[in-house]
Amino acid sequence: MRYSAPAKINLSLKIVGRREDGFHELETLVLPLPGLCDTLTFHPADEFSLSCETPGVPTDESNLVSKALRIFERETGLACPYQVQLTKEIPHGAGLGGGSSDAATTLLALNELTNANVPLDSLAAWAAELGSDIPLFLYQSPCWGRGRGEIIEPIELTWSHAIVLFKPAFDISTPWAYSCWQGSRELPEISYAPQEIAGITLSNDLERPVFQKHYFLAELKMFLLKHPSTLGAVMSGSGSTVFAILKSPDDAQALIKETRQEMDPTLWSHSEVRFIS
Ligand code: C5P
Repeated sequence: MRYSAPAKINLSLKIVGRREDGFHELETLVLPLPGLCDTLTFHPADEFSLSCETPGVPTDESNLVSKALRIFERETGLACPYQVQLTKEIPHGAGLGGGSSDAATTLLALNELTNANVPLDSLAAWAAELGSDIPLFLYQSPCWGRGRGEIIEPIELTWSHAIVLFKPAFDISTPWAYSCWQGSRELPEISYAPQEIAGITLSNDLERPVFQKHYFLAELKMFLLKHPSTLGAVMSGSGSTVFAILKSPDDAQALIKETRQEMDPTLWSHSEVRFIS
């Protein structure tokens, strides 16, 4: 059986404060991107194994897919002897939630394949043990994430725009970005102001620490913000992806070409039209 694990972007990410447990209290508006997915294939086998052809992806017990499967086995008491093949499309260290989505999809897949019928709120509690932004992927819907990101409120968004994602070759560590948030400063000539677009506010409090270290991302955001084909631009999660919302989907390919020419010819990119009704 094949399952798709979509990427996400954070349309907004507000840090409300630091918590006693070391995490940060968030309010984040998250949009899944069904056009950018990893794929997980489950084959019945004698025992669990994970394979992935993408270099650098661990296939041992440290992978979030393995961890999700082990939590599912522990909590349900069921053995899950599947050979799982993971095909990565979502870039790593990008703020797009690839590993988290793979883990959430593993829980959903095992729930279906074993007919365990675990309710969504139990799966969400197990997912939250593994990572703050794993539960949101269980809901397969735009949502608010609160708490450390694990308290999910699915929402309806009526919204239809083309979105273009850009990621440079370097990755960003999420713990590092959060650890630098307090005490970070805004850079002159870079706009961090919330952008109101069709009833949605684009903003990201992690831009402050991330742009201080990676000035290229601040420049990339400003290039996209000033471009005549965009309505707005912001970083996703802890980066290094910056995305733009376009006035017209017809402009996506031209924007990708021009951004590569002007900013960095090696930029990874993805575009999709997200219709939500
Ligand atoms: O929950 P997860 O393991 O994905 O988080 C990775 C790291 O990101 C945490 O260890 C913490 O340093 C940071 N983080 C945070 N506040 C959040 C989410 C993550 O400080 N709300």
